[in-house]
Amino acid sequence: MRYLSQRYTMPYGMQKALLTDIGTEELGHLEIVAAIVHQLTRDLTADQLVEQGFGPYYIDHTAGIWPQAAGGIPFNACEFQSKGDPITDLFEDLAAEQKARSTYDNILRVIKDPEICDPIRFLRKREIVHFQRFGEALRDLQEHLDSRNFYAFNSAFDKNGLFAASQALSDHEQATV
Ligand SMILES: [Fe+2]
Repeated sequence: MRYLSQRYTMPYGMQKALLTDIGTEELGHLEIVAAIVHQLTRDLTADQLVEQGFGPYYIDHTAGIWPQAAGGIPFNACEFQSKGDPITDLFEDLAAEQKARSTYDNILRVIKDPEICDPIRFLRKREIVHFQRFGEALRDLQEHLDSRNFYAFNSAFDKNGLFAASQALSDHEQATV
């Protein structure tokens, strides 16, 4: 959802295409994770769900799939950003991929079942590839931007850079006073 939302304000086709591709792939990853959770929980009784710490979840959702963090925080749009600023958004995406990779690392430290670990290892590898692709996208974007305005204005919104130029100058003056 993050990538499929951010794609619209990317100024160049390369970044739009990459966000569309990776965003679509991530939907497939959601299906993989949901299938794993469903296969692990679908045959459990209410007592077993409670014994294994899923009591509150069971009361609210039975054995249905409802996205939430491991700590219980439900998924909502605040989980990701779409700032409408290409550099800001790509930096967020790079961090998101590393956070996903760290989460998979943590899962692999505590889960030993190979039928779970194998797909998790696959997903982990994809996050590393996504991080590399977003790094390329950021470098490509930077090469096309006006170097005088690097990080000083929103290249998707302040297209003429007038706000940026004056603001960057006053920021510089304040920093050097
Ligand atoms: Fe990813």
